[in-house]
Amino acid sequence: MSQSLGRGAYPNTRLRRLRAQDFSRRLVRETQLSCDDLILPLFVIEGRNETQKVASMPGVERLSVDLLARKAKLLQQLGIPAVALFPVVDPSAKSDSASAAHDADGLAQRAVRELKDAAPELGVITDVALDPFTSHGQDGLMDHSGYIVNDETVEVLVQQALSHAAAGADIVAPSDMMDGRIGAIRQALEGAGHTNTLIMSYAAKYASAYYGPFRDAVGSAGNLKGGSKASYQMDPANTDEAIHECALDLQEGADMVMVKPGMPYLDIVRRVKDELRVPTFAYQVSGEYAMHCTAFENGWLQREAVILESLLAFKRAGADGILTYFAEEAAQLLQG
Ligand code: PBG
Repeated sequence: MSQSLGRGAYPNTRLRRLRAQDFSRRLVRETQLSCDDLILPLFVIEGRNETQKVASMPGVERLSVDLLARKAKLLQQLGIPAVALFPVVDPSAKSDSASAAHDADGLAQRAVRELKDAAPELGVITDVALDPFTSHGQDGLMDHSGYIVNDETVEVLVQQALSHAAAGADIVAPSDMMDGRIGAIRQALEGAGHTNTLIMSYAAKYASAYYGPFRDAVGSAGNLKGGSKASYQMDPANTDEAIHECALDLQEGADMVMVKPGMPYLDIVRRVKDELRVPTFAYQVSGEYAMHCTAFENGWLQREAVILESLLAFKRAGADGILTYFAEEAAQLLQG
């Protein structure tokens, strides 16, 4: 008691002294948010000069490859380090085997090539998962009982990751949550000579209801058979399991791990960073984006301040970077 009071007792200690002026607040600030922390998810569609609004994600547009390439140049100029690409394919390209996922000339693969051509310094992250390509909207292959089979799915994911790397993807990011996929993908990348292709593992990905607007955006919501992804994504009640997942993925060859969703899961970000001490990313997902936008549109929250505060909170929790639909706007705010 006397120990803590010795240093801390009022009026010797007045914590408001350091808060009184801007210069001293800046001097003692523990975390900073910068453009270097931001990754922008992008939705890509077929066609030319084509844009489509996403109803549940105000301000987010799906873009055809040519418009995507143009946008990439702007993002590179803004100082955003990387984008995460999500293809939105026509229902006719969906099948039970998800074979369009690893088409060397598929939408994602073409988009990667165009992006790297237009903005070579902008990192390109691809989504490794089958949900845009399966007729049932699940992330893996389904057996007769409706169960998502693990090992057969991993074989397709490996082909998909290889096709992304061959197209020039800098980072492949498996978001499917199958067991063993990181090791299988790493081994295949090594075998094909893609030794510097990075793997960002969606390691602690929860079976969350916050993904709803994203499933609208990629057109997998309407057809999501079974509704739930709980047989492969993590139970929101768990935390030790997140450490287990991340540790395994690192052991299998992931270069960085991700926690997803973001704001409701900052306790997981903090644990992963403290216990594993590796590059740790977090995804402020579509539902979090939609919630914010609704409040902004109604004038209930102040847009710019809340965007920056929400992203700073990720940094304070230990995230090295954040996937966020606010990335472009946040970068503009941080620059300006
Ligand atoms: C699926 C995938 C999802 C997201 C990224 N990849 C949705 C899901 O698992 O159903 C969610 C992103 C978001 O909500 O913003 N492979």
